[in-house]
Amino acid sequence: MCGIVGYIGKKTAQDVLLTSLKRLEYRGYDSAGIATLDDDNQPQLARAVGKISELEQVVQQAPHAGHLGIGHTRWATHGGVTTVNAHPHHVGDIWLVHNGIIENYKDLKAELSDVDFASDTDTEVLAALINREYTAGVKLQDALAKALKRVRGTYGVAVFSPREPEHIVVARLGSPLVIGVGQGETIIASDASALLGYTREAIYLNDGELAVCSRDNVDVFNLNLQHLNAHAETIQGDLAQIQKGGYDHFLLKEIMEQANTLQNTLSGRIDPQAGTMRLGGTNLSPQELKTLRHIVIVGCGTAYYAGLLASYYMEQLIPDITVEVVIASEYRYRSFHLPAHSVALIVSQSGETADTLACLREIKKRGTKTLGIVNVVGSTIAREVDGGTYVHAGPEISVASTKAFTAQVVAMLMFAGMVAESHGGNKALISELTQELAMLPAEIDNTLKTHQQTIEQLAKKYAKFDDALYLGRDTAYPVALEGALKLKEVSYLHAEGYASGELKHGPIALVDETFFEVFDILDNWLFEKSIGGLHEVRARGGKTIVFTNATDKDIEADDIVRLNTPIKHLAPLLLNNLQQLFAYYVAVQRGNDVDQPRNLAKSVTVE
Ligand code: G6P
Repeated sequence: MCGIVGYIGKKTAQDVLLTSLKRLEYRGYDSAGIATLDDDNQPQLARAVGKISELEQVVQQAPHAGHLGIGHTRWATHGGVTTVNAHPHHVGDIWLVHNGIIENYKDLKAELSDVDFASDTDTEVLAALINREYTAGVKLQDALAKALKRVRGTYGVAVFSPREPEHIVVARLGSPLVIGVGQGETIIASDASALLGYTREAIYLNDGELAVCSRDNVDVFNLNLQHLNAHAETIQGDLAQIQKGGYDHFLLKEIMEQANTLQNTLSGRIDPQAGTMRLGGTNLSPQELKTLRHIVIVGCGTAYYAGLLASYYMEQLIPDITVEVVIASEYRYRSFHLPAHSVALIVSQSGETADTLACLREIKKRGTKTLGIVNVVGSTIAREVDGGTYVHAGPEISVASTKAFTAQVVAMLMFAGMVAESHGGNKALISELTQELAMLPAEIDNTLKTHQQTIEQLAKKYAKFDDALYLGRDTAYPVALEGALKLKEVSYLHAEGYASGELKHGPIALVDETFFEVFDILDNWLFEKSIGGLHEVRARGGKTIVFTNATDKDIEADDIVRLNTPIKHLAPLLLNNLQQLFAYYVAVQRGNDVDQPRNLAKSVTVE
């Protein structure tokens, strides 16, 4: 997501900060800034919307002379993409860059009613909180530790004060921070790739730790300011490798990091104890929520399939509502009519897809309220909808969408949970789903790690085929569609997804030894029916792979991958994780450019 850098040493800070920020560009960002302290202890700030090159122009007009500074690339979460919302932020003597989300920022802001906030960010609230603790005689690390103890959420922060020009203080909880130890200089970054060229010796800060970084020394503490032993490690690998977090491709990184990104999607939105979910930002009054009768979900590609999966949960949760899921490129030209008390969910990772945007405009023309389920903050769709939510999956760099799918489904599920509550929906189911959501990040992590090697082996076996069918029923049906899409996007294999029940209405004619069939089978009341389809294919000599959460049922197939998870309702998301890995490894086997598959674009801004 956002990137942090910091520098204290002999070099001109602005040069190091700008170079390091450029190393973080691959992560995606929408604005950037630096703040430095000159040798007379005067702070200087430069911020710009857009690329680092824009920031460089601002800096060129008023160069920074100091040898201490902090910098940031922002990927907006709270507050739009504006210069004022860009980091660094400062309140009083506190100058701060921050990654992560301060969940209780509204409560904290209410406490800080005497502060005249310039931005809409949660970060400025944190700066004000630290500043309030930073009274005469208090050290910066004390004020920071005290403030951070009040914070709920995640953070990686770097802070300086003109009152203490000899150091920068940093801390982390759930958002990475690396401290590069150089010769008479210390470089701080949220990502080791920013340190390369300066040093390979780095201290990786752990959650709950704070460090005071001066030119020649780094002292690490816990938030009670007890001194900890910290050791510098040698950074391994080259720039490209480090940017991919050690993975060979962004696609694999984005698949494997889903547990973390999902945590951001869920952050502050579920209450497992109360068994409730809540999605802010929808701008629907309690009355509008209560009277809602119709939901239309609009998307393209993976976003459409995410909508399709979410629609099954919506129907289960909300007793008196109709849900339709539509492909944006079709719907925009249809003579559609939306009844009163409808709402449209506009689903898009990029927030820029031309067909989805056109659909949004058509729906608005008809007077129906539109809500965005969008990943990229400040994108066109996010700006044009009447309300909505960001899924907070972080920048998705690989063209094929993976972590955004999971985040979109979960965001729509939380929306459904909220509507269900106001419609007197099944409380027990809402609660069960909330518990499953709370467990989901750990289960995703477990699923991916447990089965990674098996899936890689499977991919080696099936990469030589040219055709595949993906089959699933009920909530496994959208997963089959998405599995086929992922495979064709990155491996260029011909793959089609079908509802298992449709098998005998056509696709079964294709079954022969040149095809393989992937069955997504859920351990639910439709299990026997799904197995029926599997038998029909096997009887005709089809090669079959089964992805299932049934641990103790007999299944005959050429290959079976069984999930072992307490998750039931949301198991389709875990099956999808397996398929993502499968598509990835088949593409690797076939020697494809997995991050930039031929003919595809990440953001399709033309019709
Ligand atoms: C393109 C991408 C797909 C994506 C689709 C919708 O086709 O290659 O991965 O699912 O657009 O993109 P959106 O940004 O609207 O979710």
